[in-house]
Amino acid sequence: MPLTLNNIAKQGEHGSTMMPVIQGVGRAAIEIAAVLRGAVFRGALGGAGSENVQGEQQQLLDVLSDEIFLDEMRSTGFVCAVGSEEQEELLVIEEYSHADYLVLVDPLDGSSNLDVDGPVGTIFSIVKRKTANADRPHVSDTLQSGREVIAAGYVLYGPSTMLVCSVGEGVDGYTFNPSTARFELSHGNMRIPETGGYYSVNESNADQWADNMGAKLENLKAETGLGMRYVGAMVADMHRTILKGGVFLYPADSKNTTGKLRLLYEAIPMGFIMEQAGGKSMSSDGVAVLDLQPEALHQRVPVYLGSTTKVDILLG
Ligand code: AHG
Ligand code: MN
Ligand code: MN
Repeated sequence: MPLTLNNIAKQGEHGSTMMPVIQGVGRAAIEIAAVLRGAVFRGALGGAGSENVQGEQQQLLDVLSDEIFLDEMRSTGFVCAVGSEEQEELLVIEEYSHADYLVLVDPLDGSSNLDVDGPVGTIFSIVKRKTANADRPHVSDTLQSGREVIAAGYVLYGPSTMLVCSVGEGVDGYTFNPSTARFELSHGNMRIPETGGYYSVNESNADQWADNMGAKLENLKAETGLGMRYVGAMVADMHRTILKGGVFLYPADSKNTTGKLRLLYEAIPMGFIMEQAGGKSMSSDGVAVLDLQPEALHQRVPVYLGSTTKVDILLG
């Protein structure tokens, strides 16, 4: 009998409380995957004609994925609020405003890949509220460092749909099995290799990078001879990095002076997964991603995530 997401309940101190929330992520993933596969027939590709708080053009599927995810978090009964890339403010789930957990989410990551049928993802992390259950959840409940994250993970919508997650007891990958219509364990105890792999970065920004990152990357290439792969969706680039080794990076540059990726729902969840898989997750000035103290819901940071030896060579 293959292991399903129920397997999470047996994992460590938090597995039993995190299982129903991650099962909610799984339900959302199945719905989002179905919507993605039929989007072209529903005229659901393309822009929503609106900007998100990031000042980025929202895709129709960004908005739809956000609605599906929120609805499934509500259906768990354990989530009091959601902080989403697609919502300027914290979204309180009124019927469950007394519940214990908050979820941070990038409902659709890599959405620039949608109209070219490229891989996209969903990224999430789960934290326990700091405010009293009788109080109303507050954005300050989300501003917790990665060291306080209870569970995190991502969904990769590729040739198959995978849900990769951790409750602090290592990383497991579950693949959606169409014949049983559920996620089944396919990649138990994922560990990033220290040898081989690729460097993964949008090198077209190299001449604008801060922190002398152009020279540092050239040194990494010279010292390791790594090949390069870049999909342009963090979830896909990170999933390959965990399976094959190497380093994924998005430095600060003249356009994104504090980095492009968002701390709360991209860098922290992915940094948590990377550390749980035996890798390293760094931001700028020698500070680990998970040690950063968030100050705002949509704050951006530089990220350098991957095999410990490769990250150490890169950052020197
Ligand atoms: P999102 O689609 O959620 O806004 O995220 C896009 C991010 C991330 O997925 C990816 O690593 C990065 O943007 C790619 O940026 P460039 O297109 O500038 O390389
Ligand atoms: Mn994203
Ligand atoms: Mn997104």
